[in-house]
Amino acid sequence: MSMFDERINRINTASVKWELTKQIFGEADLWPMWVADMDFKPPHAVLDALQKRVEHSVFGYTFVPDTAAKAIADWLDKRHQWTIQPSWLTYCGGVVQAISTAIQSFTKEGDRVLLQSPVYTPFFNMIEKNNRVVVNSPLVLEGNRYKIDFESFENALKEGCKLFLLCSPHNPAGRVWTKEELQKIGELCLQYDCLILSDEIHSDLIYKQYKHIPIASLNEELSEKTITFIAPSKTFNLAGLQASAVVIKNDALRKQFNATLNRQGFFSLSALGITGMEAAYRDGEAWLDELIDYLQENKDYCLSFIQEHLPEITSIESEGTYLLWLDCRKLGLTDQQLQDALIQKGKLVLEPGPKYGPGGEGFVRVNIACPKADVIEGMNRLKKALK
Ligand SMILES: Cc1ncc(COP(=O)(O)O)c(C=O)c1O
Repeated sequence: MSMFDERINRINTASVKWELTKQIFGEADLWPMWVADMDFKPPHAVLDALQKRVEHSVFGYTFVPDTAAKAIADWLDKRHQWTIQPSWLTYCGGVVQAISTAIQSFTKEGDRVLLQSPVYTPFFNMIEKNNRVVVNSPLVLEGNRYKIDFESFENALKEGCKLFLLCSPHNPAGRVWTKEELQKIGELCLQYDCLILSDEIHSDLIYKQYKHIPIASLNEELSEKTITFIAPSKTFNLAGLQASAVVIKNDALRKQFNATLNRQGFFSLSALGITGMEAAYRDGEAWLDELIDYLQENKDYCLSFIQEHLPEITSIESEGTYLLWLDCRKLGLTDQQLQDALIQKGKLVLEPGPKYGPGGEGFVRVNIACPKADVIEGMNRLKKALK
């Protein structure tokens, strides 16, 4: 019995994943494998720290203390062999907010921002809502693995992009970019003077045969031209605490970023956000290693279930993240028919592929970060919906 086998009822906790399905998908009692959070408790060390903080019971204004910055720096060093100075860190509620802040800080209206679809929906939204222009260099699916088309990537940069929004590891494609790929991205971005915004929120959720490399850690030049976004929210299931960190080595860029935050009226994280973040990065490592083993088992289960019962569906190799990206194109259904079957016949909510932009058509994204019994339930519903 694993600690992750515990099934926890999340109803009446204002959970987006469990309680907004009726509002968004029109039906109650749908099995939710969509929004990217986990149905697990965080590490005991985090719960203990939060409980202690609540027992203290005074929640006045807070700042992020040096001990939290040190915990983050130590974590990056230990897990990713990336040595940073705590002074390079700044903070934001969420990574999406931080990305939007960076877009506001380093571009002006009408500037072009590069991304690689299919990709996390808010990448498009934050560019467009800030009146910047999305430039897309779509990923290419070769066999079971997404690759970068470097010719298209370079052509996009040649047209003059100010920022490149890198999703590393990639949601929903599940890629953990190799050193060679990151080096090539880095060389091209330096050559065309394009700043890199590297969203590394999934960087701790890596299956054991793969290795995440922070692009800023590759060399001195790239460390000066990269803004890296990390958070304990995916890794330790703390999204509701709304705490993330941004690593900016370059002093001028960090000042620009902080000035935008200041203009927005943002000054610090919440008391519980700070406490949870620090405890997670300081004491969460053993828990995380167990989590990754558990997610691997869930992934293996899903892959063999799909192979046996739904051979028309291909699961794209997931190297990191707790998300599966399923290629359903051989079913011959439109995206609407696919959604209708999932919801009406399977009573199952998965993320529809078209949300992730060009290349997402005919795909769905499945969140497998839940107890095994719930994964089994989800797979049975998938079979019921699509068989
Ligand atoms: C790539 C990526 N970035 C950011 C986020 C969300 O970050 P936050 O909740 O901190 O805004 C997600 C959540 O799914 C994600 O997949």
